[in-house]
Amino acid sequence: ELGLFKHYMQKEIFEQPQALANTLELISGGAGISPLHFGARAPEVFDGVRRVLILACGTSYHAGLVARYWIESIAKIPVTVEIASEYRYRDSVPDADSLVVVISQSGETADTLAALKHAKALGMDRTLAICNVPESAIVRETALRFITRAGPEIGVASTKAFTTQLAAFALLTLALAKLNGRLNDADEERHLTALRHLPVAVQKVLELEPEIERWAQRFASKEHALFLGRGRHWPIAMEGALKLKEVSYIHAEAYAAGELKHGPLALVDKNMPVIAIAPADELLEKLKSNLQEVRARGGELYVFADAGSEIPESEGVHILHMPEHYGMLSPVLHVIPLQLLSYHAALVKGTDVDKPRNLAKSVTVE
Ligand code: F6R
Repeated sequence: ELGLFKHYMQKEIFEQPQALANTLELISGGAGISPLHFGARAPEVFDGVRRVLILACGTSYHAGLVARYWIESIAKIPVTVEIASEYRYRDSVPDADSLVVVISQSGETADTLAALKHAKALGMDRTLAICNVPESAIVRETALRFITRAGPEIGVASTKAFTTQLAAFALLTLALAKLNGRLNDADEERHLTALRHLPVAVQKVLELEPEIERWAQRFASKEHALFLGRGRHWPIAMEGALKLKEVSYIHAEAYAAGELKHGPLALVDKNMPVIAIAPADELLEKLKSNLQEVRARGGELYVFADAGSEIPESEGVHILHMPEHYGMLSPVLHVIPLQLLSYHAALVKGTDVDKPRNLAKSVTVE
């Protein structure tokens, strides 16, 4: 079943172009954005939605965090993203005009299911599941559903499920923007073109594997790592840190780069590698000054930059150039090298990559 691959994690990372193409089949050919991508009742459920509440755990929660940037910026609808196990136990203020979105690869995560039931018990009936398993418990509980078509994910560390969840959220963002009168035909066409080319763009990033493998060799001896990102790439930094922790057992933390000088900078010295997600977007200049702060303290930098970002390679500053800047969908491309880095660091360390210690693929206990 593994074919040419050594582990499921590696296989699943490399399946991402196909998984994305399958998930985005709805917009192949000339098809445009439609609420019906989310079920027959979507026009009625989406009508009058004034807020979005996203509930999930782990990697799925990180997909929700990226979606918040997209939905607020493009559809102009306020979004709250919450960890399911927090939401279900706290007193919150219900809002019947909220669309509740639960995200889960397995559809069986106990806390996510319970958070959904909690929201429904509070009177929130506009519910949507983004899920990779069509017959799962979560999908049976929601008014609407979007099934990602990643195929079975066997490696405990979620990879292709995450990027297909992002694809689903991109479609949701555009569908809500359209209903909200925030998407003109030209913009819709531009977004659709970018989405349709996404599998090819991901394929090009996967070709960076040999270079990332060399980075992983240097990395594997470290005990800690700091991941920095800004804006819609901050959740990607969080996802990179989670992947590294779970498969290589290297302690990793993610910070919004602007928070660096509010505490974590104290940790930076020559033993603390810093991984920076540095897309060529409007926040790049701000990020560059954060990187200088790290360098000035002797921290070694590993920068994932887009082609044309003009961050010079120098002593202690390693740059990996991504093939292109990919606008709104850039987080989908930037997570790929982080998945590969974790995978290869784990190989060097000799951990059980597909079944990391203490973890289960589907967390059906609370
Ligand atoms: C991390 C990972 C977990 C899951 C989390 C939620 O690689 O796989 O953090 O993302 O347990 O699982 P699902 O998406 O099945 O609800």
